[in-house]
Amino acid sequence: MAENREQLAPVLVLGGSGRVGRAVVDELAARGEHVVSLSRRVSASPHIATVEHRRGDVSDLEEVLSGLRPSAVVIAVTPFTAPPESFDGFDTDFYARMMTRIEELVFPGTRVIDVAVTAIAHLDDGSIVADHDELFPRRLRPFSDAHARGADRLDSSTLNGTVLIPAAGLGLTNTGSGSTPVLLDEPVPLEDAIAAVTHVTLATAVVDQLTLTNSGNQRWLVRDAAVPLTRSSQR
Ligand SMILES: NC(=O)c1ccc[n+]([C@@H]2O[C@H](COP(=O)([O-])OP(=O)(O)OC[C@H]3O[C@@H](n4cnc5c(N)ncnc54)[C@H](OP(=O)(O)O)[C@@H]3O)[C@@H](O)[C@H]2O)c1
Repeated sequence: MAENREQLAPVLVLGGSGRVGRAVVDELAARGEHVVSLSRRVSASPHIATVEHRRGDVSDLEEVLSGLRPSAVVIAVTPFTAPPESFDGFDTDFYARMMTRIEELVFPGTRVIDVAVTAIAHLDDGSIVADHDELFPRRLRPFSDAHARGADRLDSSTLNGTVLIPAAGLGLTNTGSGSTPVLLDEPVPLEDAIAAVTHVTLATAVVDQLTLTNSGNQRWLVRDAAVPLTRSSQR
């Protein structure tokens, strides 16, 4: 019932109207969680009536969090929907600053799931995906650096953080359904980093992580199970 749902401390999804955020909101709602979805623009007809849609900007988290004591926070914000022509003036502390403000404004130990980007994944040859121009355009490096800084900041915070790194094939095989997510510890083989993962599978991984209360700070690469497992992923 909606009344019971509203009595629960909500899960706050930053960027809840986006491609990843929307899948996470749907999965949380399906599991009966009270969800607050945040974005700067709010659709006139929210897709789930029981989800609270708030208009706000992550640059003003004090306002966003006023009167709200979230049980957990999911970060699914991208500062742009498509990569800009130029990264001149791009704030590479975008995510790190967000982590710092969240840490200041929520209870210590609050669960935070950060959806990052494949480019920051460590590969088993000692490189990261962003080092490979053929995998990640060099001009986008400021964006992956921002994600890397955010993940490092989360790791050093008092928050109970998990960084989930989607495999590069995020959304390429979307069918509206997902499979069991495979979570891989870094370093990962290249074939795992470039594997497919649907938005639904990623959302399942995000919400699964929220139910783990004492996992400590961790980071995982997430891909679909619907491809043959490699030796390393069978650990
Ligand atoms: N393969 C990969 O590694 C991969 C692929 C895709 C995405 N990702 C990652 O997944 C995450 C989500 O990506 P996405 O594809 O879902 O992005 P998206 O569809 O562009 O959605 C971005 C969301 O963030 C919101 N947003 C943007 N700036 C905001 C601000 N200042 N304050 C509040 N909300 C803001 C947007 O709503 P408004 O614009 O209305 O505010 C929207 O809800 C990102 O971290 C991205 O790097 C990874």
